[in-house]
Amino acid sequence: MVRVAVLVSGGGTNLQALIDAQNRGEIVGGEISAVIASKPGVFALERAAKANIPAFVIARKDFANSREMTLAYVSKLKELNIDLVVLAGFMTILTEELVQAYPNAVMNVHPALIPSFCGKGYYGLHVHEKALEYGVKLSGATCHFVNEECDGGPIIMQKAVEVKPDDTPETLQLRIMEQAEWKILPKSVSLFCEGRLSVKDRTVFIKE
Ligand code: GAR
Repeated sequence: MVRVAVLVSGGGTNLQALIDAQNRGEIVGGEISAVIASKPGVFALERAAKANIPAFVIARKDFANSREMTLAYVSKLKELNIDLVVLAGFMTILTEELVQAYPNAVMNVHPALIPSFCGKGYYGLHVHEKALEYGVKLSGATCHFVNEECDGGPIIMQKAVEVKPDDTPETLQLRIMEQAEWKILPKSVSLFCEGRLSVKDRTVFIKE
């Protein structure tokens, strides 16, 4: 069994999508073994408790800098024997030590079609504000492996979602979650756990 840790910072709807997929038997060869939150009191922690998943808080404010915080994450993940780290609405930037400890084994879901609307400052609702400002007709979500570059790692899956003329950042966010994020994230995690993903240069190959 591939041991999966899900890192969260807020509401945790993507965590919920993973828990629901697991309950339907759709995370093949893997199990959600831990949830780690970057803030105490976030709703994602309640979702973990309800699903009987061990949950921990490692908060940025308890460390002098991002590197020290990242080292605390790595040491907790290793202590828990985690094989795959999933950033699911995780809003704190971790430094390169995480990727070095887990090469091509850290996955992120981003609420846009990378390389559009991504990188530093593009997180949560801001992503959808920028997409609406630009006037794109399609946006969507991307699951990718994390590398040293913010939102720059090899892409595992993407799904496009229509932008409607009367969208607000909130309505667009919800449509992208429902139609894209909550589908491609559990699917990407399962593909990893099934051992069906391989990476060559920037390209992820999916074995049939
Ligand atoms: C999701 O839309 C996720 O893609 C986004 O924040 C939201 C968190 O929702 N993540 C980022 O912007 C990371 N760059 P959730 O806590 O309900 O899963």
